[in-house]
Amino acid sequence: MKKYSIAVIKGDGIGPEIVDETIKVLDAAGKKFGFETEYKGCLMGGCAIDATGVPLPQETIDICKASDSVLLGAVGGEKWDTLPGHLRPEAGLLGIRAALGLFANLRPAKIFEPLVDASPIKREIIGDGLDIMVVRELTGGIYFGQRGRSEENGVKSAYDTEKYSVPEIERIVRVGFDLALKRSKRLCSVDKANVLESSRLWRETVLRISKEYPEVELSHMYVDNCAMQLVRNPAQFDVIVTSNIFGDILSDEASMISGSIGMLASASLATGSFGLYEPIHGSAPDIAGKGIANPLATILSAAMMLRYSFGENDAAVAVEAAVDRALREGRTPDIADLALPKLSTVEMGDLVVKNI
Ligand code: IPM
Ligand code: MG
Repeated sequence: MKKYSIAVIKGDGIGPEIVDETIKVLDAAGKKFGFETEYKGCLMGGCAIDATGVPLPQETIDICKASDSVLLGAVGGEKWDTLPGHLRPEAGLLGIRAALGLFANLRPAKIFEPLVDASPIKREIIGDGLDIMVVRELTGGIYFGQRGRSEENGVKSAYDTEKYSVPEIERIVRVGFDLALKRSKRLCSVDKANVLESSRLWRETVLRISKEYPEVELSHMYVDNCAMQLVRNPAQFDVIVTSNIFGDILSDEASMISGSIGMLASASLATGSFGLYEPIHGSAPDIAGKGIANPLATILSAAMMLRYSFGENDAAVAVEAAVDRALREGRTPDIADLALPKLSTVEMGDLVVKNI
């Protein structure tokens, strides 16, 4: 039987609760589709700071590298908010992206039919549904560029640098084109080429790579216009490819269209089939331990793992379909529907398992 090893980082806040439900779903999918999954837990974020003094222990990187993929819950919380930047839980997240070479972040903003009325966007704008894939560059740009502070004549300054090399742009743009080929063959590259030099290099590179993909219809959009268009007419988008910072912002915006940030999955991919999978919502410390967190974004991230890291497409489709059916039978409070039973985190996980 095929066997996949998964490094599991439950993290902080609601992380452990939502990851536990996801493991149940992965096990159920394995049973049905004939593969085995084995898990190895490791620490990152606040819990790692408490246990080891750093947000990303070397042991965690080693365990992840020795696995076929990584499942991550969420990191962060008030307790660690006052630590200096390099010791905050978020530094663990940025560190692991860099350490594992996870340069391509896929964030699907997809609306499940039963949730159309939960979206803040009107039904007539959403139309038959919505299925946008944001491809965000994840290991470059302003997140990893030079930064610093200075002081002159008593006036303090700080700076961060947006810098992209051609190879960095090429590899993420190819991910965008390859995905577009498998979907509706439309790609929108988002930049700020009317102002930023790094964006002008981005656009030149996109144009050059586009010659390798004559079947894909390419468009370019400035990021401010894209932010507006996502709300005005989201159905015009299929695959969006963009830089680290623009992708961070636009993917949060796109996620909201889908009804709840509690529904949005993500995959962070390295070259080859290795990837880290996590929900895009955070650790939600305000509801941690109450058993009410929505595990579906993590479960949908596991479906992406099945698809992108293991090539278990049938299992991935089955998990996504099980989520769709479960949404018609019950809901966690964040997506509550008066006509349906209100479920706990564990009950929601059980319902997905039942529907596989
Ligand atoms: C995300 C988050 C992170 C980011 C933070 C927590 C560092 O917002 O994954 O989108 O900005 O990349
Ligand atoms: Mg973000």
